[in-house]
Amino acid sequence: MARRRKLYEGKAKVLFEGPEPGTIIQYFKDDATAFNNKKTGTITGKGVLNNRISEYLMVRLAEIGIPTHFVRRLNMREQLVRQVEIIPIEVVVRNVAAGSIAKRFDLPEGDALPRSIIEFYYKSDALDDPMIAEEHITAFGWAAPQEIDEMMTLSLRVNDFLCGIFSVIGLRLVDFKLEFGRLYNDDEVRLVLADEISPDNCRLWDINTNEKMDKDRFRRDLGGVEEAYQEVARRLGVLPEAGAMDIKGPTAVQ
Ligand code: TMP
Ligand code: ASP
Repeated sequence: MARRRKLYEGKAKVLFEGPEPGTIIQYFKDDATAFNNKKTGTITGKGVLNNRISEYLMVRLAEIGIPTHFVRRLNMREQLVRQVEIIPIEVVVRNVAAGSIAKRFDLPEGDALPRSIIEFYYKSDALDDPMIAEEHITAFGWAAPQEIDEMMTLSLRVNDFLCGIFSVIGLRLVDFKLEFGRLYNDDEVRLVLADEISPDNCRLWDINTNEKMDKDRFRRDLGGVEEAYQEVARRLGVLPEAGAMDIKGPTAVQ
């Protein structure tokens, strides 16, 4: 088999050239990092689970008309996506005070925010992903004003929809991070949701126990990291139980 050309290796994924022009293969690794690489480790099986979880969520989002880069899952650890020009911005949506916003404004973790809040961070490991304002985005030319508007509108729609999906399976969507990319099609450019949506970039708390079911278990050395990722996949109905073909639908929590 011909060796595939590696295009980029990130902290949690490797990108390979896809089979057709304009496509990319995303390979999901078990590597976990936190605090911009200051903490590193392995979460066994994370790549397989995030591949499934992100596939499920991207497909559901596409069904309600959110444009995404996702094409199809190829195997246990790989998915085919459209090649996009990634906008170097992390869009964070928050519903509940946790993590850096709790620290910044001295808010008790777990308090509902007065309304959903969108924040922007500049994607730069060297700079530790600094928080930025719209002014920085437009002045430095990272995105145009109408792209910012579109990212905010899409992010709020994603938030509403994901809050619903997760609440049905007994999880509270505390916050999450999205990335967007520009999809070039002849002379047309479209903004689409890119990267992944998984417990690596969402905070998910059990609705009844407040137990953390996401990468905070790794960041904060809480133990049970693999089990938390598996539980999210199981509740979404995408945990392969008796092999890769044994996929169920989501299980509603009473
Ligand atoms: P924060 O509270 O640390 O700012 O994180 C907010 C959300 O964004 C949380 O769900 C984790 C996610 N996130 C990423 O996906 N990548 C990052 O680099 C950071 C800092 C946060
Ligand atoms: N994604 C960032 C890192 O890998 C930060 C985080 O998720 O905590 O370092």
